[in-house]
Amino acid sequence: MENPFKYGAIVDAEYFTDRVDEVKYISQFIQSANHLILISPRRFGKSSVVAKAVKQSGRKSITINLQQITSVADLSAKLLREFFKVHPIERIRHLISHFRIIPTISVNQLTGSIDVSFQPGADGTKLLEDVMELIEKSHTTKDRIIVVFDEFQEILDIAPRLDKMMRAIMQEQKNINYILLGSQESMMTEIFERKKSPFYHFGGLMRLDKLPREEFHCFLAERLKNCFATNSEVLADNILDYTNNHPYYSQQLASSIWNIGTLQPETEDVLHTAIDHIVTTHGLDYERLWMGISRTSKWILQRLASNSVLQTGEYPTSTIYSALKRLQKDGYVIYSDRYEIEDPFFKEWILRGL
Ligand SMILES: Nc1ncnc2c1ncn2[C@@H]1O[C@H](COP(=O)(O)OP(=O)(O)OP(=O)(O)O)[C@@H](O)[C@H]1O
Ligand SMILES: [Mg+2]
Repeated sequence: MENPFKYGAIVDAEYFTDRVDEVKYISQFIQSANHLILISPRRFGKSSVVAKAVKQSGRKSITINLQQITSVADLSAKLLREFFKVHPIERIRHLISHFRIIPTISVNQLTGSIDVSFQPGADGTKLLEDVMELIEKSHTTKDRIIVVFDEFQEILDIAPRLDKMMRAIMQEQKNINYILLGSQESMMTEIFERKKSPFYHFGGLMRLDKLPREEFHCFLAERLKNCFATNSEVLADNILDYTNNHPYYSQQLASSIWNIGTLQPETEDVLHTAIDHIVTTHGLDYERLWMGISRTSKWILQRLASNSVLQTGEYPTSTIYSALKRLQKDGYVIYSDRYEIEDPFFKEWILRGL
């Protein structure tokens, strides 16, 4: 039997739970003429919930992960390639002939997919303008296309002033609903909340929380039942207590528990065996990570791991605050209702070293 838990990728169907209200909210939003910005701490389920809502809408859509984009030309080529997936090339050939720089379009013989490239050194601004205009022109206000930019904060790193340029194009468009998502720890909040940013107040801001405990509990318990007939409810509780309801880490721990239940059913303390297994597997990564952070940060992480107060007089408040911000930006610490170490297994690793 296949492991019923999945972590690390976009989840859908039987791996996806709840988010009913969020999907409804996103769906309603993209039925209007507005754009949506979705922010949450890392691995809370942004990409999954957006993919679900977009799929449910049945509308044409394009999703680009900006983390995989290396230049403006690359962004233009990938947008065009995705566009060809929803618009057969034969029907829009005439529109492409208006491009200032004509792309090379070829069919990949191995995958059957379409490859798009532009001549090296082509002016990125012209490429992007033409591609985005093509997308706009191929739709109407009655038949808007959805364009999702995942990891949107990367816009600041791809090319200088790309944010300004894209905003200038996007604000003229009427036939596209943009959904821009990224993690709270990155620059996302600044991009949309800093008055001077080109994307200031660009669209509706939505924040994603952790999954509601009850629904997530049912989801886990039900899937653990076939291995743990008598104690699946208790295990589900243990998992959520340990991960503090974190969507990704709960699925990771549940997955490990399920493996143990299947392969070594005689194991007594399955929860701690699973935790042990995960911490050991990631030990080297944690060690490398630990070597790369400052002494103050190490101290803060140790205090957070043992749930101790930070204001002890050992470090000035301003030093603690800026180190916390740094740790948050680097994704080690998240803030939902309080500061906590993002990865409960890293926390465990730290505690073991105390
Ligand atoms: N609705 C859900 N039901 C069950 N598990 C979920 C749900 N949403 C997210 N998860 C768990 O969290 C993991 C991360 O989800 P996803 O990649 O959608 O999050 P993200 O916020 O986009 O992450 P990142 O910050 O890395 O981009 C999934 O692989 C899954 O294990
Ligand atoms: Mg994501």
